[in-house]
Amino acid sequence: MIGNTFGRFFRVTTCGESYGGALMAVVDGVPPGLKLTKEYVQAELDKRRPGQSQLDSPRKETDQVEIVAGLLEGITTGAPVGMIVYNVDRQKIHVDQYREVKDLIRPGHAEYNFFVKYGAYADWCGAGRASGRETVGRVAGGAVAKFVLEREGIEVIGHVVESHGIKGRRLTFDEVKANYRRNDLNCCDLEAAEEMIADLLKIRAEGDTAGGVIEILVRGVPAGLGEPVFDKLKATIASGLMGIGATTGLEFGDGFEAARVKGSQWNDQPYLDDQGHVRFRTNRCGGFLGGMSNGEELRMRVAVKPTPTLSKEQDSINMAQMKEVKLAAITRRDITICPRIYPVAEAMVRIAILDGLYMARGYDALARLDPKWKKMGEPGKE
Ligand SMILES: Cc1cc2nc3c(=O)[nH]c(=O)nc-3n(C[C@H](O)[C@H](O)[C@H](O)COP(=O)(O)O)c2cc1C
Repeated sequence: MIGNTFGRFFRVTTCGESYGGALMAVVDGVPPGLKLTKEYVQAELDKRRPGQSQLDSPRKETDQVEIVAGLLEGITTGAPVGMIVYNVDRQKIHVDQYREVKDLIRPGHAEYNFFVKYGAYADWCGAGRASGRETVGRVAGGAVAKFVLEREGIEVIGHVVESHGIKGRRLTFDEVKANYRRNDLNCCDLEAAEEMIADLLKIRAEGDTAGGVIEILVRGVPAGLGEPVFDKLKATIASGLMGIGATTGLEFGDGFEAARVKGSQWNDQPYLDDQGHVRFRTNRCGGFLGGMSNGEELRMRVAVKPTPTLSKEQDSINMAQMKEVKLAAITRRDITICPRIYPVAEAMVRIAILDGLYMARGYDALARLDPKWKKMGEPGKE
């Protein structure tokens, strides 16, 4: 398997499977002198942990993190930070359930491709590396990025904006922050959340699952992060977000609406604020111009497919016998992946932004431009 590292300067490498011994993250590029605690990382992992609500998989994972490298007497030394989370809910009954269907393709899951790529060695237990459990390492790495970004005044927040076609109101960053995690779905339009949750409980009773949309907002990113060509900040974020399982679409700013309007309706008009800084009157582009940050809030939305595992019979193929068969109902799963995935999306966006910050600061140091240009990219930070 190739490609278990994300980032160029600030890099997170993960390993671990659904029913393996543990999930791990190695974080490279951590500045020295940070009082990083396991409680800080744990708070992020707790957002992602299963079994917290009636919408989540009942799998009883405690997701307790240990920081095993990179700290001396509680303070980062600049060495890679290593973190480990043991899988604790690996009961035989569940392993045996997966063993029974180990040769079958489960619709919506990645087994067919795993058979093609890894043959007889494909991990058949709980989707292996394609499982949602893989995202534990991302969230642990993202927590380290969060710690560093806080010092830079950069905040990332994610929430659920749509579930099974029921849409929440468009909210500002402050409104999302005020209502963050106030319900099981983390939908910050509290009225819409009630409707969404009632609908999801009906779907659960039918043995079915639902998809939705999550939104990520970022405040405090200076202008000019990202490079103009292949290493656009937008492209790095897209890679991070689309690398999460169950994601099916991505929109920056008003995204697909761009296809439906005229240029005069789309372009965000620049103006000078009362301190003489360049700002934009609207933010249809979601804070990106030329793929680089333009100093406005970053805004992106990710479509999430309905959870593939169903309590309903589905079509399958037995790959050992090359025979069409039926796959019986399976019970343990998230009804919707949305409330599980937003902490993962927050983590990936944080890693991408911190990585972009490292690149920009390194490049700026060598470019040695007149500082007036740099100041211009940081409205309110002079
Ligand atoms: C945080 C998270 C939790 C997930 N939980 C489940 C689950 O409980 N049941 C399930 O069938 N799929 C779950 N998935 C989705 C599958 O991992 C994913 O859909 C599958 O591996 C196929 O990959 P693809 O959807 O990217 O094509 C979860 C994904 C994430 C990111």
